[in-house]
Amino acid sequence: MTEAILLVGGKGTRLRPLTVNTPKPMVPAAGVPFLTHQLARAKAAGVDHIVLATSYLAEVFEPYFGDGSRLGLHLEYVTEVEPLGTGGAIRNVASHLRSGPDDPVLIFNGDILTGLDIPALVHEHESTGADVSLHLSRVEDPRAYGLVPTDATGRVTAFLEKPQTPEEIVTDQINAGAYVFRRSVIDTIPTGRPVSVERETFPDLLSSGAHLQGMVDSTYWLDLGTPQAFVRGSADLVLGRAPSPAVPGRCGERLVLDSAVVAPDAKLTEGTVVGARARVGEGARVSGSTLLDGAVVEPGAVITDSLIGRGATIGARTVVTGAVIGDGAHVGADNELQAGVRIWCDATLPPASVRFSSDQ
Ligand code: GTP
Repeated sequence: MTEAILLVGGKGTRLRPLTVNTPKPMVPAAGVPFLTHQLARAKAAGVDHIVLATSYLAEVFEPYFGDGSRLGLHLEYVTEVEPLGTGGAIRNVASHLRSGPDDPVLIFNGDILTGLDIPALVHEHESTGADVSLHLSRVEDPRAYGLVPTDATGRVTAFLEKPQTPEEIVTDQINAGAYVFRRSVIDTIPTGRPVSVERETFPDLLSSGAHLQGMVDSTYWLDLGTPQAFVRGSADLVLGRAPSPAVPGRCGERLVLDSAVVAPDAKLTEGTVVGARARVGEGARVSGSTLLDGAVVEPGAVITDSLIGRGATIGARTVVTGAVIGDGAHVGADNELQAGVRIWCDATLPPASVRFSSDQ
């Protein structure tokens, strides 16, 4: 059995306002807190002990997941006094690990949706004798990520954070946020100060001659850091494009939680999720979107590729495209919201007050 560390302490600023009240790993995707999918996938891969490294809104994880027995896992929680960054968070939980010095320890970013073959990554790590092994994903536009070029044997040759110029883009392989560390390497990360594993630990290990191995694959991979990516990931889980044993119900065009109320002529498509106690009125159309618990969509509203927060209301005939509506916000009737607009939690938009087009 392998053990794992899950990094779940980030502030999730790119996902605001959804992360104002809820840490990113606890925002529901396909009807359950996103973290549930990662825990279920780790369990399915044979992981039994997981330490959660918490910081921002740390207090909400344990009441929900408890000791992990519901998922067949043993979970522990370690909260940082001050945020320690990704590397500092890994080091901070080291005393909770049970592995011996040469054993492999899995580490996952808490905001990645992926079909990664976890046992294959551990196997790559053990068969190459690496100090650290990284899952690498190929992306079309790598500018927002950390590039990780490798040699013909898969050995990492450099770490290039967020390259911009064409000369800097030397590969399409990016750090996909899942690692295997030799346990003793974790103990070499400095204590008591913030450390970035991507910007400090990995480059330092490389320059000191450590063996860092990359495993590239073409499996499903999505960083759920932005609202557009989060809503895409949730829809892909519902549609069955992204694999998870934790989707509550059969995969298909929509997922409607039991206590939700949907008008018979409302259309829910493209992986839309309707959360607990949410309501969708007559003639409303919701496509590729996530309505969190208690959200209300009034008759005739049209919602596409958007996230509607807990208890938020979308007024009649309002059109919402590629937008984020914070928890408890009230968008009046006959508005038009689009293009990445973020409506803050509890904000009120009067009827017919925002348009992006001139008609009506
Ligand atoms: P943004 O603020 O939108 O960039 O999101 P983020 O705060 O989650 O940062 P990022 O996506 O770079 O973090 C990658 C992973 O590391 C996520 O799973 C975070 O929860 C986690 N993480 C980032 N910083 C910390 C930290 O200081 N402590 C802990 N425990 N986890 C962290």
